[in-house]
Amino acid sequence: MKTGLETLILPAGAAGAEAAARALAAGGLVAFPTETVYGLGADAANATAIAHLYAAKGRPAFNPLIAHVADIPAARRIGRFDTRALKLAEAFWPGPLTLVVPKIEGCPVADLATAGLDTVAIRIPAHPVAQAILRAFGGAVVAPSANISGHVSPTLAAHVESDLAGRIDLIIDGGPVSVGVESTIVGCFETAMLLRPGGLSRERIEAVLGAPLARPSLEAESDDSQPLAPGMLASHYAPRAPVRLDAREVTPGEALLAFGSARLPGVDTASAVMNLSPTADLDEAAANLFGYLRSLDAKSPRAIAVMAIPEQELGEAINDRLRRAAVAR
Ligand code: TXA
Ligand code: MG
Repeated sequence: MKTGLETLILPAGAAGAEAAARALAAGGLVAFPTETVYGLGADAANATAIAHLYAAKGRPAFNPLIAHVADIPAARRIGRFDTRALKLAEAFWPGPLTLVVPKIEGCPVADLATAGLDTVAIRIPAHPVAQAILRAFGGAVVAPSANISGHVSPTLAAHVESDLAGRIDLIIDGGPVSVGVESTIVGCFETAMLLRPGGLSRERIEAVLGAPLARPSLEAESDDSQPLAPGMLASHYAPRAPVRLDAREVTPGEALLAFGSARLPGVDTASAVMNLSPTADLDEAAANLFGYLRSLDAKSPRAIAVMAIPEQELGEAINDRLRRAAVAR
């Protein structure tokens, strides 16, 4: 692994985008903001840079990466888009949606980044800083979330720094992200599949498709030989403290991650309380989720109790991440 690197932190802006593009072209690892979470970018065509990326994150190499591009013509130089995939791309790109499509012949994305699959995950991010970097660089950039594998995803440059300083070349600081959970991943297979709920709600995608999205079965999710969404390992997004879901009361020494205006019994004995959205706004809750989990975890509570969150709109992604955080390790 490349450790002991001097990690430079630059503000977003024209000079930052140019520096990011130069570092990517030289095979470097560059963290930058997208509207969902901060990503850790590498040149999608450079297998050595991608190997460094896996090592820097401690990420298993069977877990493929998302290729980020600036526009739909660039996406079509990587993947094959049928009518249905193109319809989704045109409706939601740039934005918090990743499409898994067949690779085109001679796909420039290195095999290491796609874990040997004949499909590729593609996203056009909407964040102006991500867009500026992609345009300055010119090629596709693979970018997983910029955290140590298994940790909570970063929504601030400071989160990236605390996980990856000394392991990557550059961090572009563009302030807090707006969406706060990772992109929704849709597999454009025979039936369209929701591989990962995320920052674009199922409801909005189904409205454009005019059909429901299938969910991979639990067996398919955990079957290594048939990786549909290979990165959806159970114990992901994990703080150090145990996470207790659907809390209806607080027990002494627990931290409370609240949602809405209800006041739980025992809340006065909580070691800390943060409210994802006092007005029960699911977009606001998604934006606050990972930062609040990090903040509560930093206080080393006995456990983090989490109030119930409705399973609709961005609540589906929030509950998905919380369930993974709650899996005992
Ligand atoms: O919002 C996001 O998607 C962020 C930002 C940085 O763009 N990126 C992100 O990447 O969350 P990562 O690496 O943490 O998650 C990518 C997911 C993994 O679950 C991986 O298994 C899945 O995408 N994936 C990648 N290629 C795939 C493929 N060909 N088929 C199925 N799943 C794939
Ligand atoms: Mg991740």
